[in-house]
Amino acid sequence: MRVSIQDIQAMKGRGERIPMVTAYDYTTAQMVEAAEIPLVLVGDSLGMVVLGYSSTVPVTIDDIIHHTRAVVRGTAQALVVGDLPFLTYTSAEQALHNAGRLLQEAGCQAVKLEGGAAVAPIVERLTAAGVPVMGHLGFTPQSENTLGRRVQGKTAAAARQLVQDALALEQAGAFAVVLELIPALLAEAVTARLRIPTIGIGAGAGCDGQVQVIHDLLGLYTDYVPRHAKRYRSLADEIRNAVAEYAAEVRGGSFPTAQHGSKIDQATLHEALAQLESKEQD
Ligand code: KIV
Repeated sequence: MRVSIQDIQAMKGRGERIPMVTAYDYTTAQMVEAAEIPLVLVGDSLGMVVLGYSSTVPVTIDDIIHHTRAVVRGTAQALVVGDLPFLTYTSAEQALHNAGRLLQEAGCQAVKLEGGAAVAPIVERLTAAGVPVMGHLGFTPQSENTLGRRVQGKTAAAARQLVQDALALEQAGAFAVVLELIPALLAEAVTARLRIPTIGIGAGAGCDGQVQVIHDLLGLYTDYVPRHAKRYRSLADEIRNAVAEYAAEVRGGSFPTAQHGSKIDQATLHEALAQLESKEQD
């Protein structure tokens, strides 16, 4: 049985912190599941860390569906959230269509979308139709071209607006909300006012949970390392060294060895080649 949105909300009730990470493929999803991560996000950060774009903007709903399918296949317990990409939820009808595709074609259990009070009517329509929705406030990467990549909610007006946006999302039926790049004190204030869990990224330790891009945790993506990311391993170095070792062994002839291949006995091979040669002579 997979973790449900009620299980996630009960964790807030018990004061149990909620770890969430992104995954984009089957193999990583299996490892994340083995680490007992209850919430897995197939984020549109896919665009940068997997597809090599410079932002999330070019990511399509088909990209997210393709990768979400793999993550769903790699997990049995985690609640998988699929991100709705840029301009895929500009109306309730469009949001219903695309969220429906994510749940039905990709098999995830919830969707995430960015924005506050302005998207609350869309969140309401989705939840009324049976689609669990996670909100996303603060720095919202799909609006990078208008917001700039910087901490949000620093003025009194912006902080007030953010609290109102969070309440609007809760009222519209969101089951949780991501708070990205906002001051820690503001994140604490939002967390205290909401019944639903807050999941922070660059928003301090006072949120109910934390989300990180798995490539940042593992040191796999080296183009850009956000300040809010903690690198637990440097796998890019490990992988580079392993591939270089392999290449050196192929070049030097020490890989493969007999143990990496299969055998045919000399007599069978001789018979096969002899037949071939006699056919060539005919
Ligand atoms: O796309 C993503 O990975 C995200 C997280 C950073 C919250 O939205």
